[in-house]
Amino acid sequence: MKFRQLVSIRLLMGAAAAFTLNVLAAQAGDSPREHLSLDANWKFHLGDDWPGALHLDKAGASAGPAAEKFSDQSWRALNLPHDWAIELPFDKNADTSHGFKPVGPGYPRNSIGWYRRAFDLPEEDSGKRIWLTFDGVFRDATVWVNGWLVKRHEGGYYPFREDITDVAHIGGKNVISVRVDATKFEGWFYEGAGIYRHVWLDKTAPVAIAPDGIFVRSEFANNVPADIANIHVSVDLINHQINSIRKIVVECEIISPNGKSVARFNGPSFSFVPAQEDLDTKLSDFALWSPEDPTLYRLITTVSVDGKVVDHKETEFGIRTVGFDATNGFLLNGKHYELYGTCNHQDMAGVGAALPDALQYFRVAKLKEFGCNAIRTSHNPPTPELLEACDHLGMLIMDESRLLGSDSENLRKWDDQIRRDRNHPCVAIWSVANEEFSVQDSPQAGNVARTMQDCVHRLDPTRPVTYAAPEGDTFAGINGVIQVRGWNYHPGPDMDRYHAEHPDQPNVGTEQASTVSTRGIYENDPRRGYVSAYDDNFTSWSQTAETWWGYFADRPWLSGGFVWTGFDYRGEPTPYAWPCINSHFGILDTCGFPKDNFYYYQSWWTTNPVLHLLPHWNWPGKEDQEIRVDALSNCKQVELYLNGQSLGKQTMKPNSKLSWPVKYAPGMLSAKGFDDAGNVIAEAKVETTGEAAALHLTPDRATIKANGEDVSVFTVSALDAQGRTVPVAQNKIAFAIEGVGKILGVGNGDPSCHEPDTFIPTQPMHAIAANDWRWKLADVPSRVRLLPEYAPDYDDSAWSTIKPKTDGDTGDMFLKENETAIYRAHVQVSADDLNNPGVQIRFACIDDHGLVFVNNQFVGESHDWSAQPSFDLKRALHAGDNVIAVGVKNDGGAGGLNPDVNVEIVGQPQPAPWSRSLFNGLAQVIVQSSRDAGEIKLTASADGLQPASATVTTVPGGMRPSVP
Ligand code: GAL
Repeated sequence: MKFRQLVSIRLLMGAAAAFTLNVLAAQAGDSPREHLSLDANWKFHLGDDWPGALHLDKAGASAGPAAEKFSDQSWRALNLPHDWAIELPFDKNADTSHGFKPVGPGYPRNSIGWYRRAFDLPEEDSGKRIWLTFDGVFRDATVWVNGWLVKRHEGGYYPFREDITDVAHIGGKNVISVRVDATKFEGWFYEGAGIYRHVWLDKTAPVAIAPDGIFVRSEFANNVPADIANIHVSVDLINHQINSIRKIVVECEIISPNGKSVARFNGPSFSFVPAQEDLDTKLSDFALWSPEDPTLYRLITTVSVDGKVVDHKETEFGIRTVGFDATNGFLLNGKHYELYGTCNHQDMAGVGAALPDALQYFRVAKLKEFGCNAIRTSHNPPTPELLEACDHLGMLIMDESRLLGSDSENLRKWDDQIRRDRNHPCVAIWSVANEEFSVQDSPQAGNVARTMQDCVHRLDPTRPVTYAAPEGDTFAGINGVIQVRGWNYHPGPDMDRYHAEHPDQPNVGTEQASTVSTRGIYENDPRRGYVSAYDDNFTSWSQTAETWWGYFADRPWLSGGFVWTGFDYRGEPTPYAWPCINSHFGILDTCGFPKDNFYYYQSWWTTNPVLHLLPHWNWPGKEDQEIRVDALSNCKQVELYLNGQSLGKQTMKPNSKLSWPVKYAPGMLSAKGFDDAGNVIAEAKVETTGEAAALHLTPDRATIKANGEDVSVFTVSALDAQGRTVPVAQNKIAFAIEGVGKILGVGNGDPSCHEPDTFIPTQPMHAIAANDWRWKLADVPSRVRLLPEYAPDYDDSAWSTIKPKTDGDTGDMFLKENETAIYRAHVQVSADDLNNPGVQIRFACIDDHGLVFVNNQFVGESHDWSAQPSFDLKRALHAGDNVIAVGVKNDGGAGGLNPDVNVEIVGQPQPAPWSRSLFNGLAQVIVQSSRDAGEIKLTASADGLQPASATVTTVPGGMRPSVP
């Protein structure tokens, strides 16, 4: 049922009308809602050592790490987001398009990972609803909470969430176990593996705003901003409360960018919980959102039941309109706005698919440097933090689904994506899919696309829908039903003809260019896998930057387009294969270092004077040989000089570049750029440098937050004796870090570099075998109960003895069907052993059921003969002799206990030494803060070069509420 009430509050222009008291904001503390990060303190194990863990026969019967009592102490400790694929070495035989990482088909050992996380829920949570949300896991995830199977989610890019209230231990310890199965690929590009996006624990009252249950949007007559902005808010509510409600009210408040309350409005009161409430208000004094001026408002939604606040939620939004017009192209706030877009995958050097939020901001800012104002999230739903970065920094988004499909599961995911993303002002258009070659022209594909498009119109009437079509003048199938015709490649007569034939359908260049180049390389080198960075190289289906952009720039009806790609990404090493492990399509390399085409786009996508020369000028041995020098510039004329001598002045045609053949002589190549009136408005130079003599380190941000998440991105370069950056330096650099931070990853943008991006701490461990095993047939209660035989001082000298079968032979396991027995053994540990961070017991096999006691304390139970159970012994052991006792019941066949039992002592993880080579003069180090404020000092050193150090300060703040 839907209830609608229009509450119009007309506010007069001017600050005087603004409420200065932010009343609803003050109620935040009254709301039971908590949105807690669950990223820190996970345990991880690579490999499916418990293939039989998932049991579907009985609730709570899953085994191994899925079981609540399992000990994960020997597992690696890490924080999310995490991508284990980036940690694996390159393998020539692995999938080319996924970047030669040995994960996925053919690599079962590396393709399944387990994660576990324990957390407490206090007594005060009694009566609340507890929700677990995963923003994205690559790939298929099985989730248990306290041994209960709570979720199976297929796919690597969509969020999923579960209400875990029923199985939670309120007032006690809870355990989440996640099995991640990256055996199957989805894309044809690097996809990572693991819980690579955030995890959240939300707590709400029984009556609350539904997850993603708020939709706030601005509307104007004719979709053109005018004096009055109509603000519509829809609020979905959920009700888990059994007792009756006398009065429920939803109230809203809008907070302006300068923190003032500018509107308060509420819905009617009800005596029951409506499924949805729609509320409206009008604003007469507002600022519009755009990439150039990303003004954000906050909507505060409060729900009260019988006078008590039960929920309170803040939603950022922007006031703006978007539209696509068949003649005028893309319209932002009612005016033509050229889309200077780039398509991007989600991975980056150093971190793979697991980007801390700060790197989303880093990447968006890099793209903006060359004038990019739009990103296509090819070919999958983005992480929400990318959208946040785009809202804040000003970047439009084409928000793409993973797959075309109108089956209920795909529509459910599409529905989730739209609800999650529709409040972001950056999102300008939805894309139902990319290049669905096998079906796109069929009537069925048309039907499916229409159903997905209808779904958008139902959930988000403010934005149009497109499809990234890799075809020319074809109107069949999807193209015939989609609102905005998307063009992957095919600039030229096809586009003009199509536009003439379908003059009412708007168009956009969903994917263009696929120009290939390697940073700092000026000759194609197939052996090493490098492509020249002159704008010369492209694939059979694509164009140079100048060709595609020259075509689009002349046709405003095309709405602009999205370059394939903004950043290089792992995988798709077109036009090469091994040893190349990443793509060459980027305007920026995998670190975000600019290639020369960066300056082509900057010339024509920004308005400031740009002048850039290529190549570098270090060509020993090429003296007197001709070298092509290009000037990338938006100046009207450019004059080039070699060692001060003019090589001529040339006039620039719009959207093009200039070239000179130059006989090489070392020294200085320089240029001046002139405006229409002949004034010099830009200058550029490249110099022949000496050998590398010293290292140089620069952090992109000198101050970051001490929140355990923020990062500073250091650029490493080499300088010659005169302090000039050496563009050809390839030195191997070692890094050392001191203070309140750690290195997260390293990179250098080299598409053929096989050095690791991450260096994992080693985990020292030694095992102490349990000895002097004895056993006897005896009654063992099926529930945990102390027996005299479990006591350390029990006299078992008359029992039979058995020896461990270190080869794994289970010959001594001779219990018959339904027989029960008790096994006892001793283990000696030292006080030093017990001082280690982890102490656990591991069994090779308990067949079928076992209750495990150490020194008369119950430590765990096992009900799966294949589980190799391990349990935490930290509190049960003491220095000296300890007694292990296990009550065992065999169900059928031969059974019993394999006496290969070890106590494992897990030491402090030892940091690994970090290093990376420069590639054409540059490398990158991503440094992450801890939660302590202070200083982080990074030092870079290399043989024969003067080392460099640089410091970043970390300051308190930005700590998100999180589960301890
Ligand atoms: C396109 C495809 C992209 C990428 C690109 C490389 O056809 O949509 O995902 O593969 O080609 O040129």
